[in-house]
Amino acid sequence: MNEVVEKIKQELLKRCQNYKEKYGYDFWNDHIKYVVKNSIELAKKYNADVEIVELGALLHDISMPSEIGPRDEHHIYGAQIADELLTKLNYPEDKKEMEKNVY
Ligand SMILES: [Fe+2]
Repeated sequence: MNEVVEKIKQELLKRCQNYKEKYGYDFWNDHIKYVVKNSIELAKKYNADVEIVELGALLHDISMPSEIGPRDEHHIYGAQIADELLTKLNYPEDKKEMEKNVY
């Protein structure tokens, strides 16, 4: 796992933990970790870019444990949050564009 993926994962885990403490639902253990695991397997099977697919899987629901925006617009707010986080980590623009296409 590269450094950006690890940092995104740690940020997500922090937000999932906060959400769990507040509402009791564990986004990481009840949903996202399975999405990440299956996405990586599929990426390998279909020779996709594992890093991009893993980031997409990690970030696809980021707005919900972040409590930003309504649930029915989580894809819109999630894309904005993902872009902000990846920009902060100096993730290359061309890779960010690829990551947006994952979800
Ligand atoms: Fe999801």
